Amino acid sequence: MTGRNQTVISEFFLLGLPIEPEQQNLFYALFLAMYLTTILGNLLIIVLIYLDSHLHTPMYLFLSNLSFSDICFSSVTIPKLLHDMQSQDSSIPYAGCLTQMYFFLFFADLESFLLVAMAYDRYVAICLPLHYTAIMNPKLCLSLVVLSWVLTTLHAMLHTLLMARLYFCANSVIPHFFCDMSALLKLSCSDTRVNELVIIFMGGLILVIPFLLIIMSYAQIVSSILKVPSARGIRKAFSTCGSHLSVVSLFYGTVIGLYLCPSANNSTVKETVMAVMYTVVTPMLNPFIYSLRNRDMKGALRRVFFKKKIPFAV
Ligand SMILES: *[C@@H]1O[C@H](CO)[C@@H](O)[C@H](O)[C@H]1NC(C)=O
Repeated sequence: MTGRNQTVISEFFLLGLPIEPEQQNLFYALFLAMYLTTILGNLLIIVLIYLDSHLHTPMYLFLSNLSFSDICFSSVTIPKLLHDMQSQDSSIPYAGCLTQMYFFLFFADLESFLLVAMAYDRYVAICLPLHYTAIMNPKLCLSLVVLSWVLTTLHAMLHTLLMARLYFCANSVIPHFFCDMSALLKLSCSDTRVNELVIIFMGGLILVIPFLLIIMSYAQIVSSILKVPSARGIRKAFSTCGSHLSVVSLFYGTVIGLYLCPSANNSTVKETVMAVMYTVVTPMLNPFIYSLRNRDMKGALRRVFFKKKIPFAV
């Protein structure tokens, strides 16, 4: 160790997206448009839920939290990506890199926990409708949100501290568009076995347990519908669970696609494309999935924006 000429790296360089220079402007416009859509769409959901008292129910309060988390999640990576695409200076200081990694993990986990809280809410609404208001009281909702924040803080902190132990010496070019944990591990010249074990173990806990909980609540919902099959019951279940189920499939679909599909030799490109899917596309689609297919949200949109403007038409 002492004999080796070891320089400790103070900044990294992000390689960015694997695209041709002449397509740079096209992709810049595309990502900027997607980012603005994400911000505006999710802000609209938060504002609607805040302003319309019909939507002050657990499901919509969780949805508002999810939108907040979507805004933050995409803001962790996309502004830096847009900056790098335009300025050709893609360096990021060491501390900045760890900070980005921390918040990336934080908001990704938060999303996963909020999806569980929403699944539990749908389970209680459909399987125990008579006890719904007693079970999903404001105190429980707040506790679920606070618990999500605490767990996700601990998890992101654990990975960030483990990463901070490592040395980076020769190579400082990250083949990615943000400080991705696995890309950083590959660059390190320390022993990364502990980090990898913790990633596998905690990744299992943080992704598999929420996923199983969601599957379990949907299994309960389906079996309770099948017990008394009625067209009305099925329609109600579809209208209240459909949006949530779409978001869940989108979120876990990309994550499972990334981790379970065996990666070939060209894995960097595949990882980048998948990362674009879940950092840019998923947060953008969530508001559309909820607002376009959902009668409550459309009603709220009408009440909040047109209530005062067209009183003469009535
Ligand atoms: C998040 O959920 C909690 C509990 O339901 C709620 O009190 C809070 O207002 C929500 N936060 C946002 C930003 O919607």
